[in-house]
Amino acid sequence: MSFQTLFTKLEDHTLIITINRPDKLNALNQQVMLDLDAVMDRVYKFPEIKSVIITGAGLKSFVAGADIKEFEALSKEAAIAVAKKGQSVFSKIENSPKPVIACVNGYALGGGCELAMSCHFIVASENALFGQPEVNLGIMPGYGGTQRLTQKVGKARAMELIVTGNTISAAQALEYGLVNYVVPQPDLIAKAQSILGASHAKAPIAVANSIKAVNAAWDESINGYDLEATLFGECFITADCKEGIQAFIDKRKPDFKGH
Ligand code: COA
Repeated sequence: MSFQTLFTKLEDHTLIITINRPDKLNALNQQVMLDLDAVMDRVYKFPEIKSVIITGAGLKSFVAGADIKEFEALSKEAAIAVAKKGQSVFSKIENSPKPVIACVNGYALGGGCELAMSCHFIVASENALFGQPEVNLGIMPGYGGTQRLTQKVGKARAMELIVTGNTISAAQALEYGLVNYVVPQPDLIAKAQSILGASHAKAPIAVANSIKAVNAAWDESINGYDLEATLFGECFITADCKEGIQAFIDKRKPDFKGH
C-alpha cells in the first residue's frame, strides 16, 4: 500500500495511517484527502485489517487544518465542492465497519479537529490542542465540524469554540468528553493499540453492526432503535453468533471467523 501523503503500516491487524507532511504540520491538502479516501476503501475491503489508527507525522502536530494555501482564490462553487468532498471522506471514516481511533499527537485544528472527530474516538497526547479556528481566516468549519463538535461536546461549548476560534488543551478536551484518554506522547500509539487489541478478539460482524447502530444515534433520517433491532437480528444468522454462544456454554474462548 503506497500513498503520496500517507505512511501506512499494518501491525497486529491494526492499520496505522500516518499523515506525512510534517513540514506543513500535516495540513490536509487535496492529495491527502484523495489518499485518505483511497486508504479507507482498502480498510473496508481487506479482512486482515481489523482496526485503524490515524495519526500525524512528527511530535508537534496531528493535523493543523485544511491546507490554507489551497483556499486562496476559491470560488463559492469550488468551496462548496471542497467541503462536500471533505465531508464525504470523513463520513467514510466515521462509517468504517472497523474501529478507527484518532491518535492526536499535537495540533488538531480546523480540518484536523474535524478529522479526529470523524474517527470513532480520540486518544490524545498531553501536548494536544484542539480547536476550530476558521473564523480567524474569515471562513467557518466545512468538513463536518459544526455538526460533530456539537454532537460531542454539546451546543454551548461547540458554539463558543467555533465563534471564538479559541483552542482547548488535551486536559480540557478530556473534561469536555471530546477525547477518551490523555497519555504521555510516547505512549499514544500503544494506548490505542491496546484498546483495539481487545476488539480484535470479538466477532467482526457484531463489531461492524455495533458501529453502524451507534452512528445511527446521530442520523435523524434513521430510526436508531429499528436499525438496532434489525442489526441485532442479523447477528443471529452468523456462524460467529453460534460459536460465541456455544463457547460460553462450553466455558471456552470463542474462535470467531468473521462470518
Ligand atoms: N495550511 C497550510 N500550511 C500550514 C497550515 C495550514 N493549515 N498550518 C501550518 N502550515 C505550514 C506553515 O505555513 C509553515 O509552512 P512554511 O514553513 O512553508 O511557512 C509550516 O506549516 C509550519 O507552520 P508555522 O506556522 O511556522 O508553525 P508554528 O509552530 O509557528 O505555528 C500553528 C503553528 C498551528 C499555530 C500555525 O501554523 C497555524 O496557525 N496554522 C493554521 C491553523 C488553522 O488556522 N487551521 C485551520 C485551517 S482552515
